[in-house]
Amino acid sequence: MNSLTNQVYPVIWHNNAVSLIDQTRLPGEYIFVEISRSEDMAQAIKTMIVRGAPAIGVAAAYGMYMGAREIDTNNRDRFLQDLEKVAEMLRATRPTAVNLSWAVSRIMRTAYETLGSVEEIKTSLFQTAQNINSEDLQTCQAIGANGLKVLPKEPDKLCLLTHCNAGALATAGYGTALGVVRSAWTAGRLSRVYADETRPRLQGAKLTAWECAQEGIPVTVITDSMAAHCMKQGFIDAVVVGADRIAANGDAANKIGTYSLALVAQAHNIPFFVAAPLSTVDFSLTDGSQIPIEERHPVEIYQLGDTVITPGGVEFYNPAFDVTPAALITAIITETGAFSPEELPNHREKQIV
Ligand code: MRU
Repeated sequence: MNSLTNQVYPVIWHNNAVSLIDQTRLPGEYIFVEISRSEDMAQAIKTMIVRGAPAIGVAAAYGMYMGAREIDTNNRDRFLQDLEKVAEMLRATRPTAVNLSWAVSRIMRTAYETLGSVEEIKTSLFQTAQNINSEDLQTCQAIGANGLKVLPKEPDKLCLLTHCNAGALATAGYGTALGVVRSAWTAGRLSRVYADETRPRLQGAKLTAWECAQEGIPVTVITDSMAAHCMKQGFIDAVVVGADRIAANGDAANKIGTYSLALVAQAHNIPFFVAAPLSTVDFSLTDGSQIPIEERHPVEIYQLGDTVITPGGVEFYNPAFDVTPAALITAIITETGAFSPEELPNHREKQIV
């Protein structure tokens, strides 16, 4: 058995404000940014100081409470109208990860359902934001435990490949895909993690590698184009990734490059798991073609650090996510269990709304 050290919490409520680990500065610097205004929270989400589907849901929930605090009226209707504007601002920050709009909608529902004064509504909103934060931590631990049950039984110690960062940094703590990695590690079932570097933002090389190194989990960073070779060499026993939005049929949007990884895994007969909380499932979408894909600024492609690496006069396309068809997914690992994508609708009632 191994143990875990150095728990990481990317979104901490502290002294009436939120402390965010500045994920744009890792692994070089481990610093916190203090946020106390809703507009600053929206900016922190847009600029990816905080990123990862569940983490931006938690951050947006606190952003909603901050927005509520900023509204200076005792009139309930006026308050709710102004709060809708805060919701709109936060929802517009990042379009693909549904956890963000799920959290904002949950806060809005609390606002509409709380009877009493505006001050009482604000108190309930804070409580809901705190619940979203603490529930996500428990959810990730359950995902980790459920993932352990479906990982291949052989070899005894597994090599798992992951993409992007679906770790403690991307959630309230512990992680989804890295939650499965963590539980395999503590159970003594993990030999090594292969972390795709994940161009263009390098969440794998910078964040997943950092999290694993913090805890002494053996990690090998590879560039995205090396994954197929590693599978062919027999280095990889299973792939585990997170998700930003899963449609009702099990099609799953995750960081760009996930789809090609799933295709390559299928070609090598390697199981491909998607680990995500039920809050990542968007039952209103019948399939993945309806998932909005965020496009980010081309600077993420043409510049490495401060150096421009491409010639002038060329065009760029920078989708941040892609959709892996359900047919390529061995199982979806959630807090309520691990099951095949077709079984997803049976879990709809278990989703907190
Ligand atoms: O653009 P990012 O860094 O927010 O993208 C993150 C991912 O794609 C993660 O894999 C996903 O959000 C799952 S996080 C538990």
